[in-house]
Amino acid sequence: MVTTQSKRILEVRNLKKYFPITEGFLKRTVGYVKAVDDMSLHVDEGETVSLVGESGCGKTTFGRSVLQAIKPTAGETLFTQQNGDVVELSSLPYDKLRVVRRDMQMIFQDPYASLNPRMTVLNIISEPLVCHKLMSGRALREYVMELMETVGLDPRHLERYPHAFSGGQRQRIGIARALATKPRFIVCDEAVSALDVSVQAQILNLLMDLQEKLHLSYLFISHDLGVVSHISDRVAVMYVGRVVELAPTEELFDHPLHPYTEALLSAKPVADPRNKTQRIVLEGDVANPADLPSGCPFHPRCMYAQEVCRTVVPEWRELKPGHYVSCHRAQELALVGMGQTREGRGQIAQPDVPAAPANSVQDLPDAVFAEGLRDQPALADTIPVEKPQQQDQGQEGSQP
Ligand SMILES: Nc1ncnc2c1ncn2[C@@H]1O[C@H](COP(=O)(O)OP(=O)(O)OP(=O)(O)O)[C@@H](O)[C@H]1O
Ligand code: SF4
Ligand SMILES: [Mg+2]
Repeated sequence: MVTTQSKRILEVRNLKKYFPITEGFLKRTVGYVKAVDDMSLHVDEGETVSLVGESGCGKTTFGRSVLQAIKPTAGETLFTQQNGDVVELSSLPYDKLRVVRRDMQMIFQDPYASLNPRMTVLNIISEPLVCHKLMSGRALREYVMELMETVGLDPRHLERYPHAFSGGQRQRIGIARALATKPRFIVCDEAVSALDVSVQAQILNLLMDLQEKLHLSYLFISHDLGVVSHISDRVAVMYVGRVVELAPTEELFDHPLHPYTEALLSAKPVADPRNKTQRIVLEGDVANPADLPSGCPFHPRCMYAQEVCRTVVPEWRELKPGHYVSCHRAQELALVGMGQTREGRGQIAQPDVPAAPANSVQDLPDAVFAEGLRDQPALADTIPVEKPQQQDQGQEGSQP
């Protein structure tokens, strides 16, 4: 968890990622999918910042752009190295970027697709180290066994193939691979979404234990508010390529200021069956990032929308310390937070919304995070330093 002495490890300024839409034989550019459109966000050392939002709102594109796995269209990504030097990643030459990227890794959603079925666990975890010729032979094998213990796997299984492991164990292999280069910053992209609920809790607890012991910083991408509420220090709510609200976790869940956040929170059931929180069903789909509505992009789905919302883009404002929002009406609306009811909140008439379930936000019963389910993997005392690597170089979008 972040402390008052925490230093900034990552600062993203005005990041944009536009994918060109091409047409015809000559592939003429006729428009752009604005997957990430002017996003700014920072992560402090030891902090977990979560990015939430419906499918297609640009969470993965943001995470990949930050790591320079895809080249951002515009904006700055400032990363603080271990020696305190700050580098701007998108302008670094490739050889220097490769070195810096040892400090930054990614854990993927699908523990089945992200592991090569033809490689043993030893080869999977050691791949980044071998690629960069930084370790070999016995030392490498011992280091991989140490990493397996760190993530709660039996080191005797290092010659096994991925098919011999359960989903949760595979995700532990993915985490061990991500830790191989001893990173300080990790992007977890839906890292537990493909797992059973009880296994999700174990992997989340593992991630939190590793964070404390190895002083990791996470950008945690998820559409699941149950998961996010347990792991995050701060939460950024994203809607079509932009952050619409950002606040410390408890503040955001208790006192949302953006109608989109309120709708997402209303879809997460609470453990108490007496709680009569009214669900808000969002009409329609997420706006098209290639053809955004005018004014506030959320206005076609917002039950509080007024004329100004249709024409004027709301400003990004800090309404309480550390609590930012972009909504014209944030100060006058009395929105309902997690597990609350509308009674007593009063300034706004109760909206006429059908009591039906389900938008794209999934839920986890709070009980699965009970202390008794926490697993405590044995942590290796040290992880050897001077490990290398980073893998994929994604496709590039062109500047509009
Ligand atoms: N390589 C690409 N080329 C063109 N459009 C893309 C590309 N990658 C992503 N997009 C578009 O960018 C938008 C954001 O996609 P992204 O995968 O970042 O969303 P997401 O929030 O991670 O969604 P999910 O929750 O489903 O993973 C979508 O409209 C998607 O279609
Ligand atoms: S600016 Fe208007 S349309 Fe947008 S979220 Fe606020 S009230 Fe709704
Ligand atoms: Mg995604």
